[in-house]
Amino acid sequence: MKIAVLAGDGIGPEVTSAALCVLDALNLPDIELAQGDVGGLAYHRHGHPLPPETLELARSSDAILFGAVGDPTCDNLARDLRPEQAILGLRSALGLFANLRPAAGWPGLESLSPLRPEIASGIDLLVVRELTGDVYFGDKGERIGENCERVGWDAMAYGEGEVRRIAHVAFRAAGSRRGKVTSVDKANVLETSRIWRETVIEVAREYPEIALDHIYVDNAAMQMVREPSQFDVVLTGNLFGDILSDQASACVGSIGLLASASLGERQTDYGTFGLYEPIHGSAPDIAGQGRANPCAAILSLAMLLRHSLGMEAEAGRIEQAVGQALAKGVRGMDLGGNADTETMTKAVLSELLTIS
Ligand code: NAI
Ligand code: MG
Repeated sequence: MKIAVLAGDGIGPEVTSAALCVLDALNLPDIELAQGDVGGLAYHRHGHPLPPETLELARSSDAILFGAVGDPTCDNLARDLRPEQAILGLRSALGLFANLRPAAGWPGLESLSPLRPEIASGIDLLVVRELTGDVYFGDKGERIGENCERVGWDAMAYGEGEVRRIAHVAFRAAGSRRGKVTSVDKANVLETSRIWRETVIEVAREYPEIALDHIYVDNAAMQMVREPSQFDVVLTGNLFGDILSDQASACVGSIGLLASASLGERQTDYGTFGLYEPIHGSAPDIAGQGRANPCAAILSLAMLLRHSLGMEAEAGRIEQAVGQALAKGVRGMDLGGNADTETMTKAVLSELLTIS
C-alpha cells in the first residue's frame, strides 16, 4: 500500500508530521510512504507548484495525504503558478470529484461553537461537495465592456453526468447514516441548478429508502446556523459547497479539527483512491512556530485508512484517541488552550495506546 505524502508549505509539514507519527504508532505492515513537493515549496524548488514528478507520484499511489498550500511569498505570481493551483490541479488531473466533509461536534467542545451549545451539540452532518465542475473550472476571462470598463466573467456549468455521479455518492453515504439527503441549489434563478435538481430527482429514484429534499442555498446558509440538526447529508456543487462546508465546520468549533476526503471513481486493491487533507489552509500567521493543531491532519489520516486502504478498525481507533484526548481537556491554541503541536500529538498517541 503506497501513500503519497504531499505536506505542502506553511503549517502543512508540521501537521502532516504529526499524522505520520500516529501512522507509525499503528505499526501497520506493508505501508510505503513516498514524499513529494507541492505548493510554495515546489514552486521555489522546481518552478511549479505541481511538478510533473509530484503528479506522477500521486497517480502511482493508493492514497494521498495532503497538508496545506498557500505560501504568501508566492502571492504576486501569475495565477497558474500560485500554490493553490496545486490542489486544483491534483483534483482535476486525478478525477477527484467528490469532497466529503464530515462535521460533527466532539463531546465537551459544544461551548466552543459560536452557536448556542444546545444547537451545536445537534450537529452531525456530511457535506458532499462536487469538486471538479462549476465556476471554478468553467470558462473565465476579462473583456472590455461598455464605457471601456473591464468586466470579469466566470461561467457556471454542470453537465448531467457530473451531477449524477456526485448524487450517487451522496445517496450511498446517506444509506449508512440517517437516510436523508438535502440537495442545495439555486434553482429559482440558475439554469445550472435546474439541471442539477432534475438530475438529483432522477438519481433519487434508485434510492427509495433515502429521503430527499431540496433547499435554496441562501436558505441553507440560514438553516445551518438556525437548526443544523435537520441536516444529514448535504449534497451540493463546488461553489456553494465551498462556502457551506466552511460554515458547517465553524459551527462545530475549530478549523483545526476538521478533516476531508476527495474521492474519484478509481478503485485500488484496498478501497477508493483519494486525497485527504485538513480543511484549513497553510496558516502563514502561525507557520514555523509549532503551534498548529494537528487534529485535522490526524483525522484526515483516519479517513484515508477508512476509504482508501479499507482499514475501518484503525480509522476508528484514531478517531477515538482524538476524542479521548479532547475529552481530557487537551486543547490546541485554536481551541483556546495552550497545547502546541507536539503536546497535542503526544496526547493522541498516548490515548491510542489505551485502545485495542
Ligand atoms: P487558514 O485556514 O490557513 O487560516 C485561517 C486561520 O485559522 C488563521 O488564523 C490560522 O492561524 C488558523 N488556523 C488554521 N489552521 C489551524 C490549525 N491547524 N491550528 C491552529 N490554527 C489554525 O486560512 P487563510 O488564512 O484564509 O489562508 C492561508 C493560505 O492557505 C492562503 O494562501 C489560502 O489560499 C490557503 N488555503 C489552502 C487550502 C488548502 O491547502 N487546501 C485551503 C484553504 C486555504
Ligand atoms: Mg474553502
